Amino acid sequence: MLPFTFQNPTKILFGEGMVSRLGEQVRSFGSTILLVYGSGSIKKSGLYDQVLEQLKSIDARVVELSGIEPNPRLTSVYKGIELCRSEKVDFILAVGGGSVLDAAKAIAAGALYEGDVWDFCIHKAVIQQAIPLGTILTLSATGSEMNGNAVISNWELKQKRAFGSPHVYPAFSILDPTLTYSVPRNQTVNGAVDIMSHVFEQYFSRTTDTPLQERLCESILQTVIENTPIAIEQPDNYEARANLMWCGTLALNGGLISAGMQNDWASHGIEHEISAIYDIPHGAGLSIVFPNWMKYVYKERIDRFAQFAERVWGIKRDSRSDEEVALAGIEATRAFFTSIGAQARLAEFEIDREHIDEMAKEAVLFGPLGSFKKLEQTDVRQILEMSL
Ligand code: NZQ
Ligand code: ZN
Repeated sequence: MLPFTFQNPTKILFGEGMVSRLGEQVRSFGSTILLVYGSGSIKKSGLYDQVLEQLKSIDARVVELSGIEPNPRLTSVYKGIELCRSEKVDFILAVGGGSVLDAAKAIAAGALYEGDVWDFCIHKAVIQQAIPLGTILTLSATGSEMNGNAVISNWELKQKRAFGSPHVYPAFSILDPTLTYSVPRNQTVNGAVDIMSHVFEQYFSRTTDTPLQERLCESILQTVIENTPIAIEQPDNYEARANLMWCGTLALNGGLISAGMQNDWASHGIEHEISAIYDIPHGAGLSIVFPNWMKYVYKERIDRFAQFAERVWGIKRDSRSDEEVALAGIEATRAFFTSIGAQARLAEFEIDREHIDEMAKEAVLFGPLGSFKKLEQTDVRQILEMSL
């Protein structure tokens, strides 16, 4: 196990009805609130009215920024920064999925920065401060509700870039599983794939002697595998939605499950290049890329892949070699993704090899990708070829 520091300041309020605690959470942060949300799902579900009622109960002045896109765009972030400055916003409340939360984080940091917020995404500047923010999560996927990361798309440059900072951890996040009952089937699937992918990025590590972390990862994977088909068949199954929600939060919250382990994140890097150009859902891109990444790199640590196959998928060794068991685990992963309706090929989004070189080049712009196997441009290209 490697040395590590771990700190996570986000307070979680988990369970049905927790939105009724919103007012008391926001009260201490000031009176002008920027309410950030997407394209209308919170209005349909009635959550919007509940939020306004809570904010009214503490006499808050509410400024709204709606229309945050999936794969949130820099242009929306600029709008939010403008509002924060002109309206002297004290606190930002993000209500939605990962895209809304990420946009809110970029707004929070950008509003207190004299330069261009995009600087944070291209490692040209480091975040020194941010307006405090809180979230109400409506989709289980990214973990943005309890981490300091955000991913923003610059549509003009066709770039999708991430930043991370301790200053943009939400002060609190309200996690009410009933708010995810209305998530459409495909987004439930994308979210499940994203959660599993976050675990994969940490679990497939070169670090050894981390039995607790490995079992934490395996237990999250098993819980997602058990609960996703239930949530798909019964969208209002509270236990399934609650289990997925807590898995999503734990899977990516500042490194709890992989403390002391080297992480990879190459597959996320590759996926971000795909959605930067084609604007496909993040989870769908991961479903296509991850099993191919696995096939490409498994020889780096056949033991870890064999353990994955045995413990997560229950694959019996019988008289098979480690390598055969490892490959069976990768096949089981692909089969599971297919069984829940996740995509397997880029062709399903009518993506061909036109931009493959460009994507591979951009993916390694800041150096080789990942750490499990350091991927050069030619490696990324091959994984993309396998994904066509
Ligand atoms: O815009 P609205 O109307 O809210 O609709 C959204 C959106 O169309 C809808 N939705 C959300 N909750 C709903 C709902 N529809 C009905 N009922 C509900 N309760 O779902 C659609 C997708 O939402 P989005 O926020 O885009 O999904 P997700 O949470 O998967 O976020 C994806 C974004 O997060 C980034 C991804 O790259 C992508 O940009 N990521 C952020 C990370 C982080 N901050 O740590 C890590 C991830 O690896 C990821 O890269
Ligand atoms: Zn992800």
